[in-house]
Amino acid sequence: MSFLLSLAFASLLQSAVTYTVPLSIRQDANNTLPNINTVTAYAPGSCLYNGLKVQGGGILAFGERVYGYCPESVRQQGGCPNGTQTAWYGAMRPSSLVPGGQDTFVHADGLISITVQHSHSIPHDAYWGYQGFAWTALPVNQEPFIDCPTDNPKYNCEPPTGFINWRLATGDSTKGGIMVCENPYNSNSTALYAVTPAFNKTGCVELVGLGTHNYTGPVPPVWAY
Ligand SMILES: *[C@@H]1O[C@H](CO)[C@@H](O)[C@H](O)[C@H]1NC(C)=O
Ligand SMILES: *[C@@H]1O[C@H](CO)[C@@H](O)[C@H](O)[C@H]1NC(C)=O
Ligand SMILES: *[C@@H]1O[C@H](CO)[C@@H](O)[C@H](O)[C@H]1NC(C)=O
Ligand SMILES: *[C@@H]1O[C@H](CO)[C@@H](O)[C@H](O)[C@H]1NC(C)=O
Ligand SMILES: *[C@@H]1O[C@H](CO)[C@@H](O)[C@H](O)[C@H]1NC(C)=O
Repeated sequence: MSFLLSLAFASLLQSAVTYTVPLSIRQDANNTLPNINTVTAYAPGSCLYNGLKVQGGGILAFGERVYGYCPESVRQQGGCPNGTQTAWYGAMRPSSLVPGGQDTFVHADGLISITVQHSHSIPHDAYWGYQGFAWTALPVNQEPFIDCPTDNPKYNCEPPTGFINWRLATGDSTKGGIMVCENPYNSNSTALYAVTPAFNKTGCVELVGLGTHNYTGPVPPVWAY
């Protein structure tokens, strides 16, 4: 187990009720995550976070349904996809219908975001998703999550196929990870952050990563995020 994972599990232990370490984690040799996926918080041992569905709007946050957007003119022509979950290609490009597509990026302070429609520009000090997100496969046939509320539509309690974490390909090797912190746009909720060199939020909870699950809905699920 890597140093980072040990740290993550150690910090989760404090609030852990049940606690399972996945056996024989193997790094995907080419770092290529197949198929289209949904993602959830991956935090074994945390009843609160493990399995929470991650949805994309302008930023990444937890939610029952995707925060999609479709222009009224497109809607009137019946052109709005009716997916209910945020879907991603690989690790982790958003699946949307908008011409030109959209990208995932990370602000200098770590806030994980999706580019606005018709734009592939990001702030000069931000990072493209591909600069830091990487996928690790988990063993198949894992036991279902214990203590995950299967009747709560905000959770997907299926064991993930793997998990995505963040670490800049070039940079400080001691920094990296994915955190749940206060939402900068709504102090009543949380948002997802990558631990960038300038990340300095406090009061956050570290996840082991973002669990990946095969996506089965309409592709793409939304016109735009
Ligand atoms: C990695 O990519 C190379 C070149 O595309 C390919 O030959 C190889 O089979 C891949 N390995 C795995 C484990 O997917
Ligand atoms: C979504 O759209 C597809 C294609 O138009 C349709 O077959 C399906 O019934 C719709 N699903 C829902 C839940 O509205
Ligand atoms: C946060 O919650 C409080 C109390 O429920 C509410 O009054 C306030 O409007 C909420 N703020 C936002 C930004 O949603
Ligand atoms: C955190 O970083 C921001 C810039 O991203 C800076 O303005 C702020 O003062 C820093 N806060 C602390 C507590 O270091
Ligand atoms: C996800 O999809 C892949 C490829 O189609 C398949 O091999 C795998 O069994 C699926 N995993 C689950 C948990 O359904």
